[in-house]
Amino acid sequence: MSKTESASKRRILISSALPYANGSIHIGHMLEHILTNIWTRFQKQRGHQCVSVCADDTHGTPVMLSAQKANVTPEEYISKIQQEHEQDFEDFLVKYDNYHSTHTEENKFYCELIYNRLKDAGHIAVRNISQLFDPEKQMFLPDRFVKGSCPKCGSEDQYGDNCDSCGATYSPTDLKNPVSALSGATPIEKESEHYFFKLPDFEAMLKTWTRQGHVQEQIANKLDEWFDAGLQEWDISRDAPYFGFQIPGTKDKYFYVWVDAPIGYMASFKNLCDKTEELDFDDFWSPESDAEIYHIIGKDIVYFHTLFWPAMLKGSGFKQPTKVHAHGFLTVNGTKMSKSKGTFIKARTYLNHFSPEYLRYYFMAKLTNRVDDFDLNLEDFVARINSDLVGKYINIASRCASFITKHFDGRLSANLPKHQLIEEFQQSSEEIARLYENMEFGKAVKTIMALADKANQYIANEEPWVKIKASESAQSVQEVCSVALNLFKILTIYLKPVVPETAEKVEAFLNLPSLQWDDINEVLQDHQINKFKPMIQRIDNKQVEAMIEEAKTLDENANTTTQLADPIKTEIEYSDFDKIDLRIARIAKAEQVEGADKLLRLELDLGGQARQVFAGIKSAYEPAQLEGKLTVMVANLKPRKMRFGMSEGMILAAGPGGKDIWILNPDEGAQPGMRVK
Ligand code: 2FM
Ligand code: ZN
Repeated sequence: MSKTESASKRRILISSALPYANGSIHIGHMLEHILTNIWTRFQKQRGHQCVSVCADDTHGTPVMLSAQKANVTPEEYISKIQQEHEQDFEDFLVKYDNYHSTHTEENKFYCELIYNRLKDAGHIAVRNISQLFDPEKQMFLPDRFVKGSCPKCGSEDQYGDNCDSCGATYSPTDLKNPVSALSGATPIEKESEHYFFKLPDFEAMLKTWTRQGHVQEQIANKLDEWFDAGLQEWDISRDAPYFGFQIPGTKDKYFYVWVDAPIGYMASFKNLCDKTEELDFDDFWSPESDAEIYHIIGKDIVYFHTLFWPAMLKGSGFKQPTKVHAHGFLTVNGTKMSKSKGTFIKARTYLNHFSPEYLRYYFMAKLTNRVDDFDLNLEDFVARINSDLVGKYINIASRCASFITKHFDGRLSANLPKHQLIEEFQQSSEEIARLYENMEFGKAVKTIMALADKANQYIANEEPWVKIKASESAQSVQEVCSVALNLFKILTIYLKPVVPETAEKVEAFLNLPSLQWDDINEVLQDHQINKFKPMIQRIDNKQVEAMIEEAKTLDENANTTTQLADPIKTEIEYSDFDKIDLRIARIAKAEQVEGADKLLRLELDLGGQARQVFAGIKSAYEPAQLEGKLTVMVANLKPRKMRFGMSEGMILAAGPGGKDIWILNPDEGAQPGMRVK
């Protein structure tokens, strides 16, 4: 739609929460992205301008550390992950109008703009706070990177923000016996200057805003609890080292990832505006704009989206969200997704076994517009696809199409009388649209499937397979099947946002251009159709089992970058590991090997026994540096004949390479011959 086109058409911008760029997309994420996509497709099909944006959420300590671990720059790391994410979304038929990143010029620009405006308006405070600091890594520790005993119940090995055992929440400085999860060092408390967003300045505005229909009722109630507890100033800065944007006017202070993440919605949209003639940033984000802004999020990030975000927007002169819609968490077979049960299912794992449309349909069929958790029961999933999509919906066409093709040259009846059932299907349009609009997707599916039942009942009553055999009734079969195929067309329009690929196949079969919502009112008569081909296959539990088996083999925390950089070898049994005899060895002699690029010849003292080993550590050490040092060796490795002589074992060294391959010093307490495990 052009900038000047009809004002009656709504202008909508919709986003899903930005996935973190430090892991793969799983089906829990997909619930949200599918929800957003179905709603977007529905709005577009209704003729509205609905622009969907998303991006990877790239900043923060975890991404910085993961990149270090994978030995790549954060930029390389996030770029690889983004490619994977975009591919997953595309293959799930989730097509964003723009998919961007928070590590971009646009995002930096809006971050600085919003911050500067908030600062100029007096909404930023600066003061010193004390935090846990890792003296070895020389960095402040985020809550999740400190472990210790719970200050309330004493449970060991708890994170710095809350206790898994008793549920207490606390600050990391309250933990007993804290340990840095990064280095194992005992953290110290250290002061540094932090920047705070003065959320309480916006309390009155937020109290009104939350009761104006911008959030679901359950969320509004939750917000009341937060208001009662009192709004606090929000710490928006982090000290270097940090992967993010520097705060203007500071040295070594960065915006906390949660500041620039929601601004990423704007940045992604701005990036699209710059590529698209018809879109203008201010048309959507200026406070006077009548465009609608929707954010679809999980229930865990409501605080950020319904308090910080609207307040930041208000304080910096931008439009606030029209609606923040929260959904619950996905469980699989009634419990939290679990790797050992094979129910921690990555998007890609699912796609290796099933069409994306099946999960899209299942999610749609069970979604309400409440914030409740959502269960994917895998048996029910199979049953539902087979009974609804195959047994009810596609069945209408497969029961009727061949009569039209075989007996009526593929032509629908020329003069369909006004048919009560077609009218009933048409009249359901506004009710179904209302349910879509309100994100009552499950109710929409129920209504659509009730219509499909009626269509099947109609065919069963008319018995075209009987009528076609008797000459006096054969002609009526064309009318019956034409009515049924019109019903099928209407159902396809209703289901198109959910199963867009199937809808395309139906359009090809019915010989129609891309179906819009209003096409419900046009009855197909004297119309040529094409040969019917099955469009959706039945599925069975064996496919589910295969998917679960595949999911069990994947490490839920692993991500592509680390997997590609250095894949872990196949798991071994403890009995395999136990066969390895690891001993401390003293390097008695080390020398160059003539003609070898990487090897040094070592004479090792195993506490009485001498061994010769050729080790590939030439790039890291001068032989003289090694003599007298201790190392760990595999003492029972079968001797191997090498070009330069017999190698009678293998030494173990670790480290990034170059000069930093670690070997023990004699003063570290080990003795030659000592068993290491
Ligand atoms: O919770 C998350 O996965 C965050 N990456 C969501 C960010 S949403 C928005 F604020 F960017
Ligand atoms: Zn506890």
